[in-house]
Amino acid sequence: MSLWGGRFEEAPDELLWKYTVDTSDRRMLLDDLTGSLAHVTMLERVGVLTGEDGTALRNGLEQIMAEARDEKFIFLESDEDVHSAVERRLGELIGDVAGKLHTARSRNDQVALDLRLYMRRVAADRIGQLESFALTLADAAERVGETVVATYTHMQQGQAVPLAHHLLAYAWMLQRDRSRFGDLLQRLDESPLGAGAGGGTSLEIDPEVSASLLGFAAVFDNSIDAVASRDLVAEYVFVAAQAAVTLSRLAEDLLLWATTEYGWASYLDRHTTGSSAMPQKKNPDMAELARGRAATLVGDVTSILTLQKGLPMAYNRDLQEDKRLLFHADDTLAGTLAALQAMIAGAAFHPPEPSSWVGALDLAEALTSRGVPFREAHHIVGRLVVELSASAKTLAEADLISLRAVDARFESGDLDRILPGDSVRHRTGRGGGSHESVAIQIAKIRQSLT
Ligand code: ARG
Repeated sequence: MSLWGGRFEEAPDELLWKYTVDTSDRRMLLDDLTGSLAHVTMLERVGVLTGEDGTALRNGLEQIMAEARDEKFIFLESDEDVHSAVERRLGELIGDVAGKLHTARSRNDQVALDLRLYMRRVAADRIGQLESFALTLADAAERVGETVVATYTHMQQGQAVPLAHHLLAYAWMLQRDRSRFGDLLQRLDESPLGAGAGGGTSLEIDPEVSASLLGFAAVFDNSIDAVASRDLVAEYVFVAAQAAVTLSRLAEDLLLWATTEYGWASYLDRHTTGSSAMPQKKNPDMAELARGRAATLVGDVTSILTLQKGLPMAYNRDLQEDKRLLFHADDTLAGTLAALQAMIAGAAFHPPEPSSWVGALDLAEALTSRGVPFREAHHIVGRLVVELSASAKTLAEADLISLRAVDARFESGDLDRILPGDSVRHRTGRGGGSHESVAIQIAKIRQSLT
């Protein structure tokens, strides 16, 4: 049964029904009921509903709430959407007075409200997951101790850094992903309830009352904006997509690290899959799917933006599609966070020493520290690289004689700062790849999150 039969001479075609009905919004059932309860209380307080009607409606809604909580609420094929399902069930429970629920309300402000309530709820879940993930990275950083790896630029070994420093880079990225959800929560803190179909109502209602009952700090200023805008859904999808993209980069690292060629990490058997053909295989599929699914969130961002771009004011049914995008983006992010966090918590890290060439910049900086212009020092060390390579040597095999053959200003102590472990120990700058900086970062992350 639809909510709008009166002006029609025939029942909706099955074709129309199948094409237009949305079942994806059923997961907003509790949010819908929460909104309706606040709406009824407001209507009663301002005197639009009698106390008797208000009580009847509230009792019915609370009964449906209990059914929903026990997962006993039954949706029917004839329910056009979650809002229709609730009104239908309310009628079954309390009779004709159920028809008063929709006083001074439209599904347009109702769905805008449900979306805000839903996003407020799941954003808090995602924030919790992101915090927990950052702590798992801090634990992993502590676990790997003073293990040193190379940074890579252009996929070539660059400088020596603690592996912990590399892991913590992701913790900071995820901290920002978390703070984006926090920023969004502030903008979500405004109730659209009372905007009605888009033009407001002639009934004497007070949207401030329902807003405060629902814990919103503010109320809409423009009823058209309140029902027709979906920028906050788009923002949610983007924030989720950015977090998924952060995780996709991490997934790519996890995949590279598990290759025979890198050999930096291995993952628990229970977090990997096998091959149906090659018995030796142990595949990090969760990381691959994290990377693959990030692509689908990028698609969600494109879709939610495109969904809005040609829409005239105010509500258009196109907007129904926003929910699938939101749910898909958020569910996928939630799953990816759980999967990668488990992989990292169970990972063993065992990277080989980086090549000694990663000390080249340190050697140039040794010259720079005694007044040689950096550009000249860079050139001198470049020549040394050529000389050593010509005699099939690496930086680890250089001695003071080979250094001085290139430039007389090299000193014997310079050789103490080029091997990867020494290079890291000589690093001093704030936030750089040193063990001191790693300890500060771990403490800072833990302090901000626990
Ligand atoms: N299911 C609809 C949606 O998500 C609810 C709003 C319907 N409003 C309407 N005027 N048909 O957009």
